[in-house]
Amino acid sequence: MRKAYQLGFANIEDELVIDKLSVTGKLPEWVEGTLFRNGPGMFKAGNQDYRHWFDGLSMLHKFSFKAGNISYANKFLQCKAYHEAKENNRISYSEFATDPCYSLFDRVKEIFDPKITDSAKVNVARLGGKFVAMGEPSLQMEFDPDTLNSLGVYTYDDKPKQHITTVHPHEVDNEVINLTTRFGRVSSYRFMSRPEGENPQLIASHKVKEPAYLHSFGLSPSYLILTEFPYVVNPLKILFHAKPFIENYVWKPRRGTRIFIFNRKNGTLVKQFEADPFFAFHHINAFERGEELYFDIVTYPDPEIIQSFYLDRIRSEGKKLPGGQIRRFHADMAGNKDISYRILSDEAIELPRFDYEHYHMDSDYRYVYSVGVNKAGNNSFYDQVVKSDLKTEQAKIWHEKNCFPGEPVFLANPNRKSEDDGVNLSVVLDEANGNSFLLILDSVTFTEIARAVIPQPILFGYHGNFYLNN
Ligand SMILES: [Fe+2]
Repeated sequence: MRKAYQLGFANIEDELVIDKLSVTGKLPEWVEGTLFRNGPGMFKAGNQDYRHWFDGLSMLHKFSFKAGNISYANKFLQCKAYHEAKENNRISYSEFATDPCYSLFDRVKEIFDPKITDSAKVNVARLGGKFVAMGEPSLQMEFDPDTLNSLGVYTYDDKPKQHITTVHPHEVDNEVINLTTRFGRVSSYRFMSRPEGENPQLIASHKVKEPAYLHSFGLSPSYLILTEFPYVVNPLKILFHAKPFIENYVWKPRRGTRIFIFNRKNGTLVKQFEADPFFAFHHINAFERGEELYFDIVTYPDPEIIQSFYLDRIRSEGKKLPGGQIRRFHADMAGNKDISYRILSDEAIELPRFDYEHYHMDSDYRYVYSVGVNKAGNNSFYDQVVKSDLKTEQAKIWHEKNCFPGEPVFLANPNRKSEDDGVNLSVVLDEANGNSFLLILDSVTFTEIARAVIPQPILFGYHGNFYLNN
């Protein structure tokens, strides 16, 4: 049976430039700036299909708010993986869960010179004043914020082909910190820092025999938090490219989840904990109260969520997605107690956002904004936006029939009176009308203020960020 959200996994290759979107409702006057979004633009090259939600080639989207209007533009990231797919009508580069169809000759060539994708599709960041499209292979791509044209590769390290990076760097005090994994005879996790205008520096490293798949990490005022789920890989399999990237990883729950906590200033390993086995993509926030360290993560009992995102399953199954659960971990950094956690949300969530600019590493932080799957419905993809109150453990929900929202980016009102005084911006697929719209929610009441209609669908994306005009 055709699923209502199929349109979000189609091929929408038209590149648009629209000066003024049709808006219903009234935009808040204080919202001035640009929302950049990243995600897949096509799931086909010629007659070859990509296999997984995380495979499609990157398309950038831009919504600019100015004087009560919203303009829109979208453009494929101009990278080798995209150009070769278009020129050759076939998949030419390895993505998250799809490899090109190799001849024997190609297979041997691939071992010595792997064609790892440069289609940086997962997030957008402003690093040292440069706008960068981010992907997990360490080939990030700088782009022009006005035209969305690509400006060339941006890397963190000197051997980009040998390692991967998270797409969730932390930006504090004009410094960008990220976690990379280097595969080799001796593999290692490497926390890199890139102070504005300087070259990347190694700030902590940890040797590892079988690296885990890591999508984010925690940063508190004193610590770097590395949560190593037991979803691990023999590094030789990555180096010799035995299978598509993610299919080399194996779930080994008996290892448990290892939590490494490093001193942020000198890079030493301060504590190591072992927790029950679990999997996660996203750390949310981390903060300290005296010697007590707290960090919040959207957790799953295992990595089944990755299997759930294979396109044949998304398109055919009626099974609900595994639901992410907010766990707050507590580590006593002065004592010998084990790590503990408690659950802070009853709603199944993913793609969490909070007011990072003001509440990152702040214990007063209270609200998490995310997508989720409606409990009462039959949809097996994200069909609601959720505001979780971590203090009351209650949630507010925006849900509309046949609508499928993306990550709700939070933007604070500059004259706000409370943490949640602001708006959430979410790109929503409107299946009934065959297009998408940008939803603008009042973050306090979690009700719609306005929507701006795009005359075509936008495929389900991953992450993005809003940047104020300056
Ligand atoms: Fe992510």
